Amino acid sequence: MIPRAKIDEIVDAARVEEVVGEYVNLKKRGANLTGLCPFHQEKSPSFSVSPSKGIYKCFGCGKAGNAVNFIMEVEQLNYIDALKHLAERYRIDWPQQVVSAEQLLEERIRSGERESLQIVNNFAERYFADLLINDDEGKTVGLSYFEERGFRPETIEKFKLGYAKESWDHLTNAAQFGGYNVDLFKLGGLVKENDQGKIYDAYRNRVIFPIHSISGKPIAFAGRYLIKDPKSPKYVNSPETPLYHKSNELYGLFFAKQAIAKNALVYLVEGYTDVISLNQAGIENVVASSGTSLTEGQIKLIKRFTDNVCVLYDGDAAGIKASLRGTDMLLEAGLNVKIVLFPNGEDPDSYCKKVGPLDFGTFLDEQRQDFILFKASLLLGDAGNDPIKRAELIKDIVNSISKIPDAFKRSTFLRETAILLKIDEQLLISEANRLVRGNISKQPRIEEFQYSQPSTEQELLIESVQELQLQDVQEKDLIRVILNYGDKPYSEEFESVALFIINEIALDEIEIEHPIVVQILSMINQQITDGSINFQYFVRHEDPIITEFVADIMSKDFEVSPNWHKKYDVFIDPVGYNFKEDVDSAILRLKIKHVEKLMKHNQEELDNFEKKGDMEQVDLHVHVHMHLTQKRYELTRKIETTITR
Ligand code: CTP
Ligand code: MN
Repeated sequence: MIPRAKIDEIVDAARVEEVVGEYVNLKKRGANLTGLCPFHQEKSPSFSVSPSKGIYKCFGCGKAGNAVNFIMEVEQLNYIDALKHLAERYRIDWPQQVVSAEQLLEERIRSGERESLQIVNNFAERYFADLLINDDEGKTVGLSYFEERGFRPETIEKFKLGYAKESWDHLTNAAQFGGYNVDLFKLGGLVKENDQGKIYDAYRNRVIFPIHSISGKPIAFAGRYLIKDPKSPKYVNSPETPLYHKSNELYGLFFAKQAIAKNALVYLVEGYTDVISLNQAGIENVVASSGTSLTEGQIKLIKRFTDNVCVLYDGDAAGIKASLRGTDMLLEAGLNVKIVLFPNGEDPDSYCKKVGPLDFGTFLDEQRQDFILFKASLLLGDAGNDPIKRAELIKDIVNSISKIPDAFKRSTFLRETAILLKIDEQLLISEANRLVRGNISKQPRIEEFQYSQPSTEQELLIESVQELQLQDVQEKDLIRVILNYGDKPYSEEFESVALFIINEIALDEIEIEHPIVVQILSMINQQITDGSINFQYFVRHEDPIITEFVADIMSKDFEVSPNWHKKYDVFIDPVGYNFKEDVDSAILRLKIKHVEKLMKHNQEELDNFEKKGDMEQVDLHVHVHMHLTQKRYELTRKIETTITR
């Protein structure tokens, strides 16, 4: 737990316009600042910052929050890490956690080891990079290799590429000379020990690709050979260390994370060189699995940033088939998977160089196809008319489809696959249902495929989503009104707007459904008792869900007409605005919604009693229905007069 005072201290120091200003070029417009949203692609600015309220809001993509929310989003950090990030930035001491003495010791040893390893890796990264640029051998062998591959100096600098000399002890000596503990170099896999106990360099005569953590620190190294030698491996890679767990890292993620969030898409490639080439071509949302098939840890990592993956496959058939299985894992994780296939013999790196960055970008856009349909057509070509092979193929495809967690997506794919393979859709559906049932132990809840037309399913889905959003709208609006005018006097009877609203809710026994609204209302209730409504209390709340929610609502101020924010600066209060009208109409709308809910419930009961033939109850419910209808009519009339008065 971080003390509340510490959170306040950090939020106080981290002015939203300053924090955002480091990522977005902000221009002053009235009381606010605007710029191009860092979270989605746009040409004209719809991203707005209100320094006085301490919040930001994008009217294009809807993202909103305070400085902490912004850092969470832009750096893809959790709440604690975002606070820590801001604390570091503003030089605020981070509180020490209280733990047991044993835990402390253990943690100190572990973090001590990790810290020391990091220092050693930082040293090695500088050492290799320095040799590439300044050493004669490094220049003639390593640098010229990269130049031949078309890597520009700024690219080499960005990825901190390096060179390891053709020597058994150059690094070992440098480490000793620098006063480093050589054991740490051994732990990090930078040096090795032979049977005689002699220490020697692990990377020799190779170019070096440092592997960076998500925050950009070198945690491992890959050394690629320069001369093809059947006796030695193409790459020497760091072993697993306390800093580096291969299955939880993706090469290039540090350089890609912002672009992934911005494009809502990540390109997945195989090799280090593919990542670097694409970056050089201006495509930054790219990461590499480093040759092996994807692990669950890596997929989780991807899911933190986006749901959309585009896999770039080398163009040889054997390689593609081998990759198909790993790609199924992406589907299983609920990701949307597209693929791009390269011409035979080309990989992303070589093809990008061949056609140039412009055509390469077009190629990616045009050749992108859906993974499942791609797989179906690929296997279809293989199977030809052989009935046994075709049966296997169908099983294989349906197996892939059954991995998709979303039922609606599954049924869409089944239909499209049926068309593509020219087989009966029902056949695919029953096969898929069989597989899904087979997976019963794996999934907490099994959704059956819908046999009804997907179009009705979709309609129902949209309807229920809309209903939910409508409900949200009224409840959220109530919070907006309270936060805006809560302290203002309402009437002789009610000394404040907040008091009036809380009273109205209680009087009509209105049930609030949105969990955050419930939470905020109870806090407001407390604030009324304490004396005043404090909007800043919510903007600085220790729960980022609340700050985001409140920022979103407060940016809707006076968005009376949908285009309001386009015509004027957002966040400003129009002079002379009648807040009572706003309050009354908000509470009336909520009441209407409430009455409608009661009506719906009553109607259901009425239907039931009718079926059972219980006429006494039917009469009673008809009576209630008429009463509610009357009530709704009155409320609607009131709203009309409120708005037009
Ligand atoms: N790889 C590895 N060890 C090997 C071979 C490959 O770790 N012995 C991993 C590396 O991460 C490599 C990726 O698999 O980047 C793809 O392999 P490959 O295409 O052979 O290497 P590239 O780095 O792409 O080099 P190039 O295409 O220039 O040959
Ligand atoms: Mn390659």
